[in-house]
Amino acid sequence: MKVPFFNLDRQYTQIKPEMEKQALECLSGCAYIEGPAVKELEAALSRYLHVKHAISCGNGTDALRLALRACGVRVGDEVITSPFTFFATAEAVASLGATPVFVDIDPITLNLNPELVEAAITPRTRAILPVDIFGVPADMDAINGIANRHGLRVVEDAAQAIGAQYHGRMAGTLAHAGCFSFYPTKNLGACGDGGMIVTDDDDVAALCRAFKTHGSGRNGQKAAALLGMDADGGELDGQMQGDSFYDPYKYFNYLIGENSRLDTLQAALLLTKLNHLDEYNQKRAQNARRYAQGLGNTPLRLPPLSPEGMVPCWHQYATMAPDKKELAACLVKAQIGTGAFYPVPLHLQKAFRSLGYREGSLPHAERACRESVCLPIFPELTQDEAEYVMATIRGHYGLNG
Ligand SMILES: Cc1ncc(COP(=O)(O)O)c(C=O)c1O
Repeated sequence: MKVPFFNLDRQYTQIKPEMEKQALECLSGCAYIEGPAVKELEAALSRYLHVKHAISCGNGTDALRLALRACGVRVGDEVITSPFTFFATAEAVASLGATPVFVDIDPITLNLNPELVEAAITPRTRAILPVDIFGVPADMDAINGIANRHGLRVVEDAAQAIGAQYHGRMAGTLAHAGCFSFYPTKNLGACGDGGMIVTDDDDVAALCRAFKTHGSGRNGQKAAALLGMDADGGELDGQMQGDSFYDPYKYFNYLIGENSRLDTLQAALLLTKLNHLDEYNQKRAQNARRYAQGLGNTPLRLPPLSPEGMVPCWHQYATMAPDKKELAACLVKAQIGTGAFYPVPLHLQKAFRSLGYREGSLPHAERACRESVCLPIFPELTQDEAEYVMATIRGHYGLNG
């Protein structure tokens, strides 16, 4: 049997008529940028997540950049974050001219360890950027508590955590701003790139909207005012009423932003997939339960099925293998797809060499990178495939029969 690590084909085949209907409507509607589906998706996600503002953008990396900037992160600031995540988390910080400060993870949840955060705060610290890694929310109450005591902002990297819950609240809504990615393999994946920022804070929302569209228009004007810049609309202030053809503010720019829009086509396809998200996440959870039952007596360290107060969305099923190389070789031989998230902790990435971290500086993140073997957990994985994965692993450890 051949078991893929991830398979988009199966999902597409199941929802093909809905997806193609949406795509064709969007194509014939011709409103390819800022079309109606974009607003609909933003409204649908704010309802789904119970959050006031949802601001779409080009991808999850941009969502982080925009949210961090809206939370006041500037050149020379420090942002405390996890070393055990995808590169984009810390790249977003560095791309704003700020410095990522890596703090080690909790070895069980694999998320930023709040107990180590306080010691990393300096006068330059502006924000904390926890990551809900693999779909398990970070310890947000503890992190928010530290942030409140020190006057810091918190941005939640929920790129992998759409639909996960933390003490009854939705992941991504647990900080000043939360960021999602719609990369095709995410639990809610587009057919291309896409991202979303969510927040209950009106000012953060206005700033994100301004930054993502060249600092122009009413949002640009509002953002400039919030930032204490010259936000006088001049003679246009009197012209805003009654012009239904175009927004005269569009070509009036109040600050330097960027272009990070979600395509209408992607928004339309995401709206279709959003209807299935809970069902997909339940199927992922069912696969996690199967693995927990079938692999419990192997030497693998398995992710906790129900971390206290949390409902993970099972973006990945990351096991920790004492013999990662040998197990991975066995799985490859058995034609089972696996992922090694993440082979290199961010503090040891070449791109961050100038920060001066050495091997041994963050031992739990380094160990997770040495041991992590992610198993297929996508919603359409069949019971037979899961059984085959488990039998192969038990066989590898001499536990079959
Ligand atoms: C934890 C995390 N942060 C940020 C990103 C960046 O998202 P994107 O690829 O949409 O830019 C990703 C995913 O790719 C991610 O997994």
